[in-house]
Amino acid sequence: MSIYDKIELINKNLDGLSLLKAFEYIIKEVDGEIAFSTSFGQEDQVLTDTIFSNDLNVEIFTLDTGRLFPETYEVFHKTLNKYKKSIKSYTPDTLQLEQFITEKGPNSFYNSFEDRKECCRVRKIEPLKRALRGKRMWVTGLRAGQSENRSATPLLEWDSNFEILKFNPLINWSLEAVEAYLDEHKVPQNSLHKKGFVSIGCQPCTRAIEPGEDLRAGRWWWESSKKECGLHATNKN
Ligand code: ADX
Ligand code: SF4
Repeated sequence: MSIYDKIELINKNLDGLSLLKAFEYIIKEVDGEIAFSTSFGQEDQVLTDTIFSNDLNVEIFTLDTGRLFPETYEVFHKTLNKYKKSIKSYTPDTLQLEQFITEKGPNSFYNSFEDRKECCRVRKIEPLKRALRGKRMWVTGLRAGQSENRSATPLLEWDSNFEILKFNPLINWSLEAVEAYLDEHKVPQNSLHKKGFVSIGCQPCTRAIEPGEDLRAGRWWWESSKKECGLHATNKN
């Protein structure tokens, strides 16, 4: 059976399963290590709670770009305190970062789309490649409702950029369902959510949104389109 046939079959079997059952099923099906990437956003906190509370065999890691909000480090800290488990932290390669900042300065992302992508490459993509090395499956907190780009993303897919199975267990969840889960399970949340921030990335590249604005309008707001950094660029970018 080809990998694509297998993915199709697994997607059929995942249909209608609860979050926990979906995880249990996929952990049984997948032969190899599984890693979940968290940015401590609301969706990610649902997945962290599910993984830690049920002792699921899934490693949790974060990409600490060095430019995150203080509030994000705070929720990182609170999450460690609540679950008493570890979250692996990947930081940019020191030599690459030193060279990049020396050449371009600290805030080159505002100069052009290319410069912004270069910063994302040094601070996120290269560390992500290291984090996924040797893993069979990557779990993310993507939701279809977050953007047009993500609207047709399946539960399980093949990520040809990183050559890995990619599982998006919350793809069909609404923001309301995510918030209800977090309240019910008393999961730590980023305090910026109460201040109009929905999608939270690096501090210099994220602003709050106004009511009615697109959920990702606060990311790289000075760019007219392409509101992705290359982490999730498989199909449409
Ligand atoms: S991004 O591509 O625009 O930055 P977004 O913030 O919407 O992504 O988050 C989508 C998913 O990407 C998260 O649920 C998480 O799995 C992963 N992700 C994004 N940023 C990070 C990060 N800094 N560290 C780890 N995972 C991340
Ligand atoms: Fe750099 Fe901004 Fe990308 Fe963060 S989001 S890696 S600061 S360009």
